[in-house]
Amino acid sequence: MPPEATVENVVSVAEGGNWGEGPADEAYPWIPLGLPALCAVTVRVQSSPLSSYRFGLFLPQADQWKGRFLAVGNGGFAGGINWIDMAPGPHHGMASISTDTGHNSTTLDTSWALRNPEGRTNWGWRAMHGSIVLGKALVTAYYNRPISYSYFSGCSTGGRQGLREIQAFPDSFDGALVGAPAWWVSHLNNWITKVGTYNLPTSSPTHIPISLTPFIAAEVQRQCDPQDGVTDSIVSDPLNCHFDPSTLLCPYIHPDVTIVDTNTTCLTPSQLTTLHKVYSDYLSSSTDQLVYPGLTLSSEPQWSLLLGERSPIPFTNTTASSPSPFGTGYAKDFLLDDPAWDWHSYNDSMVTLADEINPGQANANDFAALKAYQAHGGKLMLYHGLADGLVPTKGSLLYYNKTIEAFGGDLDAVTSWFKLLLVPGMQHCWNTDSQVQAPWNFGGATQSAAMGLGQWSVPGYSDARHDAMMGMMEWVEQGKELKEVVATSWNELWNASSGVRRQRPLCVWPGKAVWDRLGDVDDAASWKCEWP
Ligand SMILES: *[C@@H]1O[C@H](CO)[C@@H](O)[C@H](O)[C@H]1NC(C)=O
Ligand SMILES: *[C@@H]1O[C@H](CO)[C@@H](O)[C@H](O)[C@H]1NC(C)=O
Ligand SMILES: *[C@@H]1O[C@H](CO)[C@@H](O)[C@H](O)[C@H]1NC(C)=O
Ligand SMILES: *[C@@H]1O[C@H](CO)[C@@H](O)[C@H](O)[C@H]1NC(C)=O
Ligand SMILES: *[C@@H]1O[C@H](CO)[C@@H](O)[C@H](O)[C@H]1NC(C)=O
Repeated sequence: MPPEATVENVVSVAEGGNWGEGPADEAYPWIPLGLPALCAVTVRVQSSPLSSYRFGLFLPQADQWKGRFLAVGNGGFAGGINWIDMAPGPHHGMASISTDTGHNSTTLDTSWALRNPEGRTNWGWRAMHGSIVLGKALVTAYYNRPISYSYFSGCSTGGRQGLREIQAFPDSFDGALVGAPAWWVSHLNNWITKVGTYNLPTSSPTHIPISLTPFIAAEVQRQCDPQDGVTDSIVSDPLNCHFDPSTLLCPYIHPDVTIVDTNTTCLTPSQLTTLHKVYSDYLSSSTDQLVYPGLTLSSEPQWSLLLGERSPIPFTNTTASSPSPFGTGYAKDFLLDDPAWDWHSYNDSMVTLADEINPGQANANDFAALKAYQAHGGKLMLYHGLADGLVPTKGSLLYYNKTIEAFGGDLDAVTSWFKLLLVPGMQHCWNTDSQVQAPWNFGGATQSAAMGLGQWSVPGYSDARHDAMMGMMEWVEQGKELKEVVATSWNELWNASSGVRRQRPLCVWPGKAVWDRLGDVDDAASWKCEWP
C-alpha cells in the first residue's frame, strides 16, 4: 500500500450474502443482495493535506475471477461508494470498484464544494483515477496475476467520469459503457440554470405549470409517434419530428372533435414562447456560441426536475421557485464561492467564467485525446435516452460530432471503436413514462438495480444480446462488434414477475430499427437493424 492509503475495512461475504454501508452511505444506501462469495474492502486515500477520498472494492473468489476489472460511476453531485452498481461485477467474474468521489452527500447537495478546490478536484477526476490505479494494484496483488480486461460503466455524472478518464488516461479501460454523460459541466450546469429561468417566476404569464406537461406530452406523442412509421406510443425519432405546437393553443380543440374539452388544458401564446425555448439550443448572447442544446421532443414527462416548482431543499438554499440545484448549486459552490448568490442575477458571462475556471477540471471535452484511447484498442459505447428530461440527448450527439471532427471528419474511423446508441422513450439513464412503456433496460448502469436489489443483469435475459455490458465484453474479448442490443420493458415498470411488456433492438447510430410490418411490434424478432 502506498503511504497515503489505508485499508478501512475488510469483510468476507458468503455466497448469496449482502454488503453495503446502508444509511451511512447517504448517496447509495441500497445494499446489494445475493452476491457471489467475495471479499469487500474499503480503502481511504489522502489526496492532499486537506482532502481524502474512499473507494470500495469487491473481490470475487479466485476461482470465480475471470481476470476482469470494472470501475463504476456516480450520479449528480452524490458522494458515496456506489455499492449497488458494483454488484453486477462479481457476477460477471469481475473485481469491481467505486469511489465516493471524496465527499459524503446526496445527489443534489453541492455545499461540500464551497471554497473546497481539493474536494472539487476529487469529484472532477482525481478520486476516480486514483481509485482505478490503486484498485488495479490491489486486484493484481490479491490474485497474484495480471488483469486481462478493464471496463467502465456509469451514467450521467458516471458517464462523464468514464469519458474524463479515457481522455486523460487512455490505458485505464479496454471497454467503457457510458450513459447520458454530463460531459460538459461548465456548459450543462449553466444551461440547467438558464432553462429554469425560462419558466420563472411562477407569476409570469410565460410560466408553464408542471401540471400541464402531461397534456404537452400527449400532444407531442399524438403528432410525433405516427411520423416514425409505427404508432406504438413510442416516439422513436423525436429529432426528426415536425411538431406543430400551435395545436396546444387555447382554446384547445380535442383532436376527436366529438369530445368537448371543457378543461382549461391549453397553452397561451406566452407559454408557447417558453415551450419553444426549452426545446431550443441555448446560444450565448455575448459570443453567439452554443452553450448547450435544448431538450428533445418526448422528454416532457421528466420535466419536473428542471422546470417544476420544487419544495425548499434544506441544505441547498433553494426556494420553492428557483432553478434546479444542479444549476444554482454549481454557480454558488463551484463557480462563485458565494452561497448567497441569487439566480435572478444569472447571465451568460457565467459560462465564460466556468470555461476559464473549469472547476475541479471536471469537463470531459478533450476530443483529440480520444485518439490515444482508440490507439490503445479501447472500445466505447455511449447510450442516451431520447426522452431524457434532465441531460439533453442532443448533447451526446454533439459529443459524437466533435469526436468525428477530431478524427478529421472520418465517420468510419470513429464508428469502428465508438458506438452511439439512442434509446427511444427512455428517460434519464433508465425508466420510461407509463404512457409510453418503451423498452428501456439493456444492462446499462443502475438499470439492473432498478429492477431489484438482487438483480445484476436484465432479469431473464442475462446474455450478450440483451445486456450491453456482456455485449461489451464480447466486443473487447472476442472482437465481436457491438452494433445492437435488445432492450426490455415489463408490464409493471420495475417488476420482472409481471411479465415482459416489450422487447426491441436498439441499433447503433446512424442505424434504425425497422419493423417487418407483419409481426408483433412488441416482439424483438419483428424488427431488424438497418444502417444507411
Ligand atoms: C456521511 O454523513 C452522514 C450524515 O452526517 C453520517 O451519518 C455518515 O456516517 C457519513 N458517512 C460516512 C461514510 O462518512
Ligand atoms: C381534461 O383534463 C384531464 C386532466 O388533464 C384529462 O384526463 C381529461 O382527458 C381532459 N378531458 C378532455 C375531454 O380532454
Ligand atoms: C453577470 O454575473 C456575474 C456573476 O454574478 C456578475 O459579476 C456580473 O456583474 C453580471 N454581469 C451583468 C452585466 O449583469
Ligand atoms: C451533428 O452533425 C450533423 C451533421 O453535420 C448535424 O446535422 C447535427 O445537427 C449535429 N448535431 C449536433 C447536436 O451538433
Ligand atoms: C409483481 O407482479 C406479480 C405478477 O403480476 C405480482 O404477483 C406481484 O405482486 C408484483 N409485485 C409487486 C411488488 O407489485
